[in-house]
Amino acid sequence: MKNLVIYYSRSGENYVNGSIKNIEKGNTEYVAEYIRDNFGADLFKVETVKEYAKHYMDCIREAQKELDNDERPVLKKYLNDISEYDNIFIAGPCWWGTYPMAIFSAIDNLDFNGKKILPIMTHEGSGIGHCEADLRKHIKGAQFTKGLAIHGGSASKSENTVINWVKKSI
Ligand SMILES: Cc1cc2nc3c(=O)[nH]c(=O)nc-3n(C[C@H](O)[C@H](O)[C@H](O)COP(=O)(O)O)c2cc1C
Repeated sequence: MKNLVIYYSRSGENYVNGSIKNIEKGNTEYVAEYIRDNFGADLFKVETVKEYAKHYMDCIREAQKELDNDERPVLKKYLNDISEYDNIFIAGPCWWGTYPMAIFSAIDNLDFNGKKILPIMTHEGSGIGHCEADLRKHIKGAQFTKGLAIHGGSASKSENTVINWVKKSI
C-alpha cells in the first residue's frame, strides 16, 4: 500500500489559543510528517506562487476573497499522476470552514478513481468544517474515510491521535 499526503500549511503569523503568534512550522505540517514517519508516505506540499499575506488579519481577508470567488491560486508545482498511490491523505487548515483554495488547485484534474481518501483538517475551533463535503464535490470515484479534525494549537502533540486514526482508517 502506498500513501500520499497532499497538504497545505502556512507558517508565519497565526492565531493560537486566543492570541496572534509567529510560528516557524505550520500546524498541518506536523500532522503530515507524523503520517510519513509512522506509516511511510510521500509528502506533496501545496505552495502558491503568490504568497499569502504574512499578517494574519490580511491573510484572513485574502482567504475570504478567494473562497467567495472560488479561485484556484496558481501553484509552484502540480502533481500530474497519482496512479501509484492507494491511500491519499488530504490535509490542510480550516480557512473559513473549508480548505484553502490552493488545495483545490492541487486536486482539480487528478484522477482519484479507486483511491481511498483520508481527509484531515487542523482548526482553531471549527473542527472539520465542511471540507469533507467539499472534497466529495471535487473527487469522483473514490472511497472516503471519516475525516480527522485536529486542534491546530495542539498539532505538535497530536502524534498518537494521528496514529490511532490512521490505523483505524487504512
Ligand atoms: C486565513 C485563515 C482563516 C482561518 N479560518 C478559520 C476558521 O474558519 N475556523 C477555525 O477554526 N480556524 C480558522 N483558522 C485557524 C487555522 O485553521 C488553524 O490555525 C490551523 O491549524 C492552521 O494550520 P496551518 O498552520 O497548517 O496553516 C484560520 C486561519 C487562517 C490563516
